[in-house]
Amino acid sequence: MKSLKLVIALLFTVGALVCLATLPNSVAGSSVQITAALTTDLDKRTDDLHNGFGAKGTPVDECVADPVPGQSFEDNKFIFNEIETVEDGLGPTYNAPGCGDCHDNPDFGGFSQMRELRAGTTTNGVFTAPPGQNSSLIQLRAISAPIQERIDVGPATINTADFRTTLNTIGDGFIEAIDSNVLLANRNAQSAAFQGTFIQVPVVEANRAARGARFGWKNQHSSLLSFSGDAYLNEMGITNIFDDTAGTLATNGRRENDSLNRSVAGFDGVADPEDDGDDVEAFAQFMRQTRAPGRGPISASAARGEALFTQIQCSVCHTPSFNTVAPGTVINNGAFTVPAALGNKNIRLFSDLLLHDVGTGDGIVQNGGAGTRNMMRTPPLWGVRTRPELMHDGLSLTFNSAIQRHAGTGGTIARNAFNALSATSRTDVINFLLSL
Ligand code: HEC
Ligand code: HEC
Repeated sequence: MKSLKLVIALLFTVGALVCLATLPNSVAGSSVQITAALTTDLDKRTDDLHNGFGAKGTPVDECVADPVPGQSFEDNKFIFNEIETVEDGLGPTYNAPGCGDCHDNPDFGGFSQMRELRAGTTTNGVFTAPPGQNSSLIQLRAISAPIQERIDVGPATINTADFRTTLNTIGDGFIEAIDSNVLLANRNAQSAAFQGTFIQVPVVEANRAARGARFGWKNQHSSLLSFSGDAYLNEMGITNIFDDTAGTLATNGRRENDSLNRSVAGFDGVADPEDDGDDVEAFAQFMRQTRAPGRGPISASAARGEALFTQIQCSVCHTPSFNTVAPGTVINNGAFTVPAALGNKNIRLFSDLLLHDVGTGDGIVQNGGAGTRNMMRTPPLWGVRTRPELMHDGLSLTFNSAIQRHAGTGGTIARNAFNALSATSRTDVINFLLSL
């Protein structure tokens, strides 16, 4: 507990220093108009995913037109859903051939049942990723049998491993546009039992300058461009200028070794970087151009459940809403200017975007330091009605079982409060979750 507090204090100090430099410019003299973010009905048959940022464009017919990266919504959506091939540089080890392969349910960019494997070695409570790559992601596919990664081959002795389910990216542009100071202030207002951990992580496209984390199960990123560069490399094996190796990964042949530090030389003949950044820009832009996930029908029971959700303090970690910064605010340490479509919006995401130890920790450390080993980011609950496999590992198949897995100080308080409700009230809470 002592060491945990120390980590929090350290992170907090760093946070305070960097955050002051990134305070948004206040809009002098004008009263700020916050409006609800546009939402999508989460239905592929409905053409309502574009939030108005940039041109919508027309759906790409591959035989007629070439999509232009970073341009229209339809072009970026096409590139996000494109399937890469060995000739494009796929692999040699990878998880799936396209962003849209995993981010698909129920609309483009959403969830799926695709799971990833993270693994490493824990010695005396200290986690280390397999040597060589500084990455705990074990790619579950390879373009050739001899280089299939498995945790029972290779030089490392692996004793820590866990699955991660795919997260939704629809509406993530709004999450990116929340000021880090607002996240930190929300954290500081949480009572001690519920207080989350705020970390700052490198923004690759801003010379790795730190910003308040918000994306990924471990809060490993704060920018969608950084996440996209990471995903293109680690999910698909496509080296690119945003893959966070200061350009060295693509040129020094480190990719010639896999996550288990075995040589894969000769299995990938495509010159690095395999993407000059255009595709990565298109992925990030696509996500920034999406609306927020919209609610399903809200029954009387679901409405009662929403009040109960606050009453039993689920809402302390699953913070109902945040406002985004004003349009024109420069975020991501100078790398992105928030457009009108994303600025001054209220979003109903039901997450504090902070790390918590609710007793489900996977033992894996990414950008948050050793103290975050057993912490997970509170997942936003918007769109959760479309996620049949819950929690980071996807092993909870009902909302009730997900709630019963909440432990830790605040998690236990909320779970016990849930269990103390009448059967009807518990059903109301579940119906509320089913309406999100
Ligand atoms: C093999 C399946 C798979 C592929 C392919 C994939 N992702 Fe993901 N994505 C995931 C999983 C799993 C997570 C959660 C990972 C974690 O936090 O450790 C995730 C998380 C994300 C997040 C964080 C969402 C949030 O709100 O926290 C973003 C953004 C993202 N992916 C973008 C992309 C992009 C862009 C691509 C294509 C370059 C891509 N992903 C390819 C499975 C995939
Ligand atoms: C102390 C903070 C905290 C409190 C309080 C809390 N949660 Fe959570 N919740 C989390 C974290 C962290 C996770 C992710 C855990 C994991 O995946 O291992 C989570 C996960 C979930 C999930 C799974 C979402 C998904 O996409 O897989 C649901 C549903 C959920 N919580 C509902 C609730 C409800 C209902 C309550 C009140 C009874 C509650 N939570 C109270 C932090 C909290």
